[in-house]
Amino acid sequence: MSTLEGENAALSEMERITAKLQTQIEQTKRGEGLEFEDDEEYMKLQTENLKLKHRLAILNKAIAAEQNATSSAKHYVPATLPTAIDEMISITEHLVDLFTNAIALAFPQLAGTTAIISSVNASAAKFGDYQCNSAMSLAKTLKTSGINKSPRVIANEVVKNVAQSPLVAKTEVAGAGYINVFLKKEYALNVISNMLRFGVKPPLCRKQRILVDFSSPNIAKQMHVGHLRSTIIGDSICRLMEFLGHDVLRINHLGDWGTQFGMLIAHLEESFPNYINESPPIGDLQAFYKESKKRFDEDEEFKKRAYNCVVLLQSGDPNSTKAWTQICDVSRAEFQAIYERLDVRIHPIGESFYQSRMIDIVKFLDSKGLLEEDEGRKIMWPDETKTGIPLTIVKSDGGFTYDTSDMAAIRYRLYEQKADWLVYVVDSGQSTHLQNIYRAAERAGIFDPKTQRADHVNFGVVLGEDGKKFKTRSGETIKLSDLLDEGLKRALDKLLEKERDKVLTAEELRAAQESVAYGCIKYADLSHNRANDYVFSFDKMLEDRGNTAVYLLYAFTRICSISRNCGEDFSDLGKVLDAGVIIKLEHEKEWKLAKTLLKFHDVLNRISKDLFIHPLCEYCYEVCTVFSEFYDNCYCIEKNKSGEIVKVNRGRILLCEATSAVLKQCLNILGLKPVAKI
Ligand code: ARG
Repeated sequence: MSTLEGENAALSEMERITAKLQTQIEQTKRGEGLEFEDDEEYMKLQTENLKLKHRLAILNKAIAAEQNATSSAKHYVPATLPTAIDEMISITEHLVDLFTNAIALAFPQLAGTTAIISSVNASAAKFGDYQCNSAMSLAKTLKTSGINKSPRVIANEVVKNVAQSPLVAKTEVAGAGYINVFLKKEYALNVISNMLRFGVKPPLCRKQRILVDFSSPNIAKQMHVGHLRSTIIGDSICRLMEFLGHDVLRINHLGDWGTQFGMLIAHLEESFPNYINESPPIGDLQAFYKESKKRFDEDEEFKKRAYNCVVLLQSGDPNSTKAWTQICDVSRAEFQAIYERLDVRIHPIGESFYQSRMIDIVKFLDSKGLLEEDEGRKIMWPDETKTGIPLTIVKSDGGFTYDTSDMAAIRYRLYEQKADWLVYVVDSGQSTHLQNIYRAAERAGIFDPKTQRADHVNFGVVLGEDGKKFKTRSGETIKLSDLLDEGLKRALDKLLEKERDKVLTAEELRAAQESVAYGCIKYADLSHNRANDYVFSFDKMLEDRGNTAVYLLYAFTRICSISRNCGEDFSDLGKVLDAGVIIKLEHEKEWKLAKTLLKFHDVLNRISKDLFIHPLCEYCYEVCTVFSEFYDNCYCIEKNKSGEIVKVNRGRILLCEATSAVLKQCLNILGLKPVAKI
């Protein structure tokens, strides 16, 4: 269904409610069918009438809002009513719509109350597949307006008003007033056949331009584990948004500008005087950084030269620019090697890019009267109350700061790059800084939270197994390339321990090693709630039991191999379906697996709202464990005693294929690369 059709459906539903109310009012007005015993009853009805009028006004207002939303169409989420061709919807979202409407019909005074829907754990399927738990809170609300009804009675009235849905087989009221919802098998079969035929498609959503600022290490400094977290989480968010069909800008906000470049340039000039003509052989940029810092701290003459270099660089002097470019190149090549190993695409727009825009933003903020003098600095308060910490827009020496570049960047991103949604994947320690930037941008009229969105996707620090900050034994920060090397080594050990070298070719072993190594580092990060600190442990992440990358990669490969080994051709699933192979969901475990696969769109819907990725990892694990239950209980391929295949249960093989298709898409969003053999 198109967005417009969805909106129309929602609108006509609203109109229906209004019409019903209007009739009630008219009837009350005319006193139709009513005999007034006395004045008291008449008064009661009059009050009721007044209340109804009030409710009508609320509904009319809601309709007007809906109509506005239709015309501006920017932030309106369509009602989710599936049609035959378009079933890739979030079931939860659809049920929320369905029950929200039912509540409005049953209790017009509560129109607009969003229904509460939760999915029921698959092992408690007798209570339905989903549940609407609104009746209890509705009872409380009704009580405040003098209506005493038990949640059970309310639930029954809601159920009576639930519209027909292609998803719902039946609803029933249970316990204190829960509404159990049972899914229709036909619907599940339809979705699964479509997945097989057309691939796993994303749920419907309004397309947006999303800018994700992630990774963002600093030139000449170590790219550390914090940047690794940002890289992994940011890449996964980009993959998710790309799958949903958004226009995604993957931006590396490199720290490539600032006063530290003065000392680096001065040191380069001193140690490689020929840098203009030939690239300096800086092997170890960190050591180079340390040396220049030492010179800077110990030698006054050098310090003066360093300051001068900053001035020259910022004024565009060609030699200083050349030196700066060379230093940046060395760093960028190091970063790029890491991105390639992790298969991360990212486009650099460093802080230096904003140099001219920083000059502009200062003028802009000044012209709006937002800058204040403070001991020689120019500061800006994020909001009019002037509380919290002000931004330093211009330092007392005239230089710019991290605040200045972020203000220039947010303006560029919203105005020139025309992003609707900005996502900053940065450690939790920078929360205040980013909130200040968003608020200041709003105050300056650059950012409008009503039509645009800015999120800080924060994350905790990486800890070592000793619970302290992640460092080498000697207390140094760990080099990312060393960490990845260590991962490769450990992954290989694991594979050798399982004697995989005996069955895999050298090439296959190498592919499996990389898949496991990088996969486990990514997955360990993504499967934890990002807001918490997280303990980095190779031993834990390489376990092959529980919710780990190794378990998933093995499970995925195993599922894929079933159709490959059944002796029949399942390479073209559309053809198999056309040939009349049907999936039956008769066995309880088949049905459970199908329902688990159907949750995919719910999960994507949820994680794309709050940008917490770990529920997707939990979902992958659930798919694999539910698949195991299915596979243990339902024969896909039957063999005789001598191991020959005697029967292929083709419908079940299709269920295996649907499982691997869903899982593959999930792994893709997580940035994991499954291999054919492991
Ligand atoms: N370079 C910064 C750091 O290493 C992160 C930049 C994050 N992005 C931003 N727009 N401030 O801490």
